[in-house]
Amino acid sequence: MSEQKSTPGARDSFSSKFGVIAAAAGSAVGLGNVWRFPYIAGEGGGSAFLIICIGFVLLLGIPIAVAEFSIGRHGQANAMTSFKNIAPGTKWHLTGFLGILAAFVILSYYTTISGWTLEYMVNSFSIGEASSPMNNPNYFQDFISEPFRPILLQGIFMLLTAGIVVFGVSKGIEKASKILMPLLLLLIIVMCIRAVTLEGGMEGVKFLVKPDFSKVTGQTFLNAMGQAFFSLSLGMGVMITYGSYIQKKDNLLSSAAQIALADTVIAVLSGIMVFGSAFAFGIAPSQGPSLVFVTLPNIFKDMFMGNVFAFIFFLLLTIAALTSAISIFEAIVAYIHERFKMSRIQASALGVVLVLAVGIPITLSEGELGNLKILGRNLLDFFDFLASNIMLPLGALLITLFAGWFHGHQGFRDEITNGGTANMKIYPALEVLIRFVAPVFIVIILMAGIMQI
Ligand code: PHE
Repeated sequence: MSEQKSTPGARDSFSSKFGVIAAAAGSAVGLGNVWRFPYIAGEGGGSAFLIICIGFVLLLGIPIAVAEFSIGRHGQANAMTSFKNIAPGTKWHLTGFLGILAAFVILSYYTTISGWTLEYMVNSFSIGEASSPMNNPNYFQDFISEPFRPILLQGIFMLLTAGIVVFGVSKGIEKASKILMPLLLLLIIVMCIRAVTLEGGMEGVKFLVKPDFSKVTGQTFLNAMGQAFFSLSLGMGVMITYGSYIQKKDNLLSSAAQIALADTVIAVLSGIMVFGSAFAFGIAPSQGPSLVFVTLPNIFKDMFMGNVFAFIFFLLLTIAALTSAISIFEAIVAYIHERFKMSRIQASALGVVLVLAVGIPITLSEGELGNLKILGRNLLDFFDFLASNIMLPLGALLITLFAGWFHGHQGFRDEITNGGTANMKIYPALEVLIRFVAPVFIVIILMAGIMQI
């Protein structure tokens, strides 16, 4: 590490393989796992949905994660410049630019929802008391439609994110992830134990484990594919940026596999935690996006020491969101820092301003700006749709085409096999997945997204 630091202009990098896994798993594990996975799994037939998701992770998720890592490590720069370095004089760098735009869009509304989790974390202490603001059944709706507090909390969350990113890769992101990720795992295990030991809690686990294939439709497959991409942070240059900090000796395939495993395990644990609690209190599992913000606080209210468990839950949700936001912000900051030759502090400050410039109107779209609709959706829903259904699949498609066909045999192969010394047996299969299988599947998601417009 010190060796790299002393060379002027040398890039920062992750100092250990555990650091890579912690940071990239931190990116992958986020609101997508704890907030989104349980409710779409609830709608998609429990473990039937999970099985389909795992299929997509193996078939598409891991190969695309490897492709992104390989582009970053080969290009040795932010998501856009990496393409320029590998394919100078071509238009491929626009793929990186699209990714950075997607990062902006996602972070703008990700910070809105993360601000809500902060509000809930702070208020959780009073849960169960007569004076708790959360006793109001319309609390969630009232709070998110207010103009002031949600923006304040969004700003605080953004500053928290920037406060870590500004310290750089090894001293900021890696250090924070190595502390936060084990803590997250511990908290989620505590919550799972609580959930399954509640009377009737095991029913929720059964619901999650027993596949109900009658609920599986074409839409379930699309949701599962979208979930696999979003959850692994693919298609927007985050994993390209992180890949550029992975040391040459590290094995990209085994790293991607471990990250995917961590991501899946946390999603399943989230499912157990949420469904265990919901079933114990007799609440139907498919409650949509409000599951976490409306249903769960109601459950905590009636639980013994519910305020403690509520705090643990919203703390873990905040940590999950924070390590993901860090990765998205790093994709933006690395670009501004390297492209415009600004210091990391300047780049982070500019990043905060730009993200909030888009993010504040999005936060207001739940209240004051509620009438502003694009394609029939309010700003938050529109940006989520635009990013998840259009920008990420498009980015992922271009990335697979670049890795599989343009960067092709030499470059891609060298990165993945570490110059012919690793993963040689599995490489041909990976190449087939990247060149043929992934593009076909992604085109299907993309068409489905476009059709919805
Ligand atoms: N993977 C994160 C989650 O599950 C979200 C994310 C998407 C992070 C894209 C980075 C890039 O919440």
